[in-house]
Amino acid sequence: MDWNALIRPGVGPMVPYVPGLRASEVCAESGKETIRKLSSNENPYGPFASALAGMRTVLPHLNRYPDGAVRTLKRGLAEKLAVEERHMVLGNGSNELLTLIAQAVLSEGDEVVFAWPSFVVYPICAQLMGAKSVKVPLTADQVHDLPAMLAAVTEKTKLVFLCNPNNPTGTIYARDAFEEFLQALPEHVLLVIDEAYFEYATSPEHVNGLDYFDGERPLVLLRTFSKIYSLAGARIGYGVMPEPLVKALDKVREPFNVNTVAQVGAYYSLADDAEVERRRSENQEQKAYLYSCFDRLGISYVPSETNFVYMQTEKPVEVFAALLAEGIIVRDFGTSPALRVGIGTPEDTNATVAALEAAVTRLGSL
Ligand SMILES: Cc1ncc(COP(=O)(O)O)c(C=O)c1O
Repeated sequence: MDWNALIRPGVGPMVPYVPGLRASEVCAESGKETIRKLSSNENPYGPFASALAGMRTVLPHLNRYPDGAVRTLKRGLAEKLAVEERHMVLGNGSNELLTLIAQAVLSEGDEVVFAWPSFVVYPICAQLMGAKSVKVPLTADQVHDLPAMLAAVTEKTKLVFLCNPNNPTGTIYARDAFEEFLQALPEHVLLVIDEAYFEYATSPEHVNGLDYFDGERPLVLLRTFSKIYSLAGARIGYGVMPEPLVKALDKVREPFNVNTVAQVGAYYSLADDAEVERRRSENQEQKAYLYSCFDRLGISYVPSETNFVYMQTEKPVEVFAALLAEGIIVRDFGTSPALRVGIGTPEDTNATVAALEAAVTRLGSL
């Protein structure tokens, strides 16, 4: 069988997304009983109590297909965000929405502009459609270089991804810089703003992309229930976009792309703003404590508007291994001089700090 003749030539050179290590693998390898998974930017607490209760009620009814139009949740989101239901698409995680947008918009030879480093799925989406990734380096402060991104836009550019706050650096762009960028961006370009960590950001400079959505301009906002709402395993995210794009995505997507359990869990999560606030403020406290320990240990880091911190180190391989030996999983980037450390519970932070202290003692400055 000639598999190369069968599989589309564009797929051959693609590299699959590599997820972080799983807790069960690390448990078996390290022999540690407590594994602290700080590698996938998940929330350490479970789904909201109201979501769990709601999800349990639908389990006996899973013989039925989900609501393909996700009506109840759209109604809830419309009320909460003051966005019309006709401007919404729900996805099997916001990751699916990234892929659907690429499928609906990109053709062979188109260009896709995004910052780098940023979310690793953007180049995968471009490559899937035979489009060219145009990676624009972040500034020295690890922030989106919006003027350079604008300069990278050509007649061939179809899509620009902005990740705000950015994964993996946790940084945001400034409001003025964003407004200048938005105004200057040519009309033939679709701007997709990925706001997966929206609920964690607290800076007054943090731009809420929805404030710029008017239903006409080629602008898409993507958010997810995977992060502060703790529904990563259920898979549900949403996009707000102009109606012609909603219609295009409805043609491309699978008819029942969002499962019933996820729809119900997301719907019941919407009412609990107090829990969102509790998680956001605990995340802030843990970050502040972690920064103070980084300062004490002489570790460089990038201040973050998310639930992870980009730690800069000349010894990423050694530090990753030292943390792993203590059952702590962080995200590495091969030999790039950085690690992404997720914010977990206060116990997770204490364990991370203790492991880093031991690493400094053993390895010298990190
Ligand atoms: C920036 C960004 N966008 C999108 C996603 C995808 O999230 P999900 O598909 O779980 O909604 C992630 C997940 O880590 C992310 O970091």
